[in-house]
Amino acid sequence: MSEEQWAAVDSYLADLYLPSDSALEAALRDSDVHGLPSINVSPMQGKFLMLLAQLHGARTILEIGTLGAYSTLWLAQALPPEGKLITLEVMPKHAEVAKANIARAGRSHQIEVRLGAALESLPKLAEEGHLFDMVFIDADKPNNPHYLAWALKLTRRGSLIVVDNVIRKGGVLNAESGDPNIQGTRQLHALLAAEPRLKATVLQTVGSKGYDGLAIAQVISD
Ligand code: SAH
Ligand code: DHB
Ligand code: MG
Repeated sequence: MSEEQWAAVDSYLADLYLPSDSALEAALRDSDVHGLPSINVSPMQGKFLMLLAQLHGARTILEIGTLGAYSTLWLAQALPPEGKLITLEVMPKHAEVAKANIARAGRSHQIEVRLGAALESLPKLAEEGHLFDMVFIDADKPNNPHYLAWALKLTRRGSLIVVDNVIRKGGVLNAESGDPNIQGTRQLHALLAAEPRLKATVLQTVGSKGYDGLAIAQVISD
C-alpha cells in the first residue's frame, strides 16, 4: 500500500461524501494564496471532527492551533446557533487569514480568534471562567503535554478532548528520537493513557495527509 493509493482513496471518498462547500473551499484557497503551510486537516478528517462535535452536542469548543481556520470552520458547523468556538493562534498572519476566512463564512459571531502563544491565552481563558464541551489540540506538538493539562482544567465531566497528529508516520515508536515533536507526542500518549480523569483511545489514519492519527478522550470525572 502506497501513500499515493491512500491519497487516491481519500480523494474518491471526498468526492462522494463531501458536497462542495464554498466557504471551506475558499478558506483553503485563501490560505494557499497567503502562503500558509498546507497542514490543515484533510476534508474527510474535517468532517469527522464535525461529526464528533455534533454527536457530542458540543455548544462550546476550544481549538489550539488555528492556521487558516479550515478545521475551525468544520467544527463550527456542528454548533447550535448560540454556540461558541474560541481558537488560539500565535502567528499574526495566520490569525488574519483565519479571521477573513471566518468572516467570509458568516461565522464571525460564533468564532473568536485569539492571537498569542497558546500557553499565554489558556490561563486567561481559565481566569475568565470558560469551560468547553470539546477541545481540539492541533498546534506545536512539543507543547502537547501542557495543552492536555490545560484542556483538563478547561473542561468538565463528559467533555471531549481530541488531539491531531499523534502517530507521525509511526515516529512515535522511536523512544530515542531527538525530534521534540516525537518526544512531545510520546509524553502526550503516556499522560493520556495514565490519566484517571480520562477514557482515551487512538485512531490511526491514512489518507491525503499520509500516515498519522487522532487521539480521542472523554473526561469521565472532574
Ligand atoms: N487546526 C488547523 C491546523 C493547525 S496547524 C487545521 O487543521 O486547519 C498548527 C497551527 O498552530 C499553526 O497555525 C501554528 O502557527 C500554530 N501554533 C504553533 N505554535 C503555537 C503556539 N505556541 N500557540 C498557538 N498557536 C501555535
Ligand atoms: C504538521 C502539523 C499539523 O497540525 C499537521 O496536521 C500536519 C503537520 C507539522 O507541523 O508538520
Ligand atoms: Mg494537525
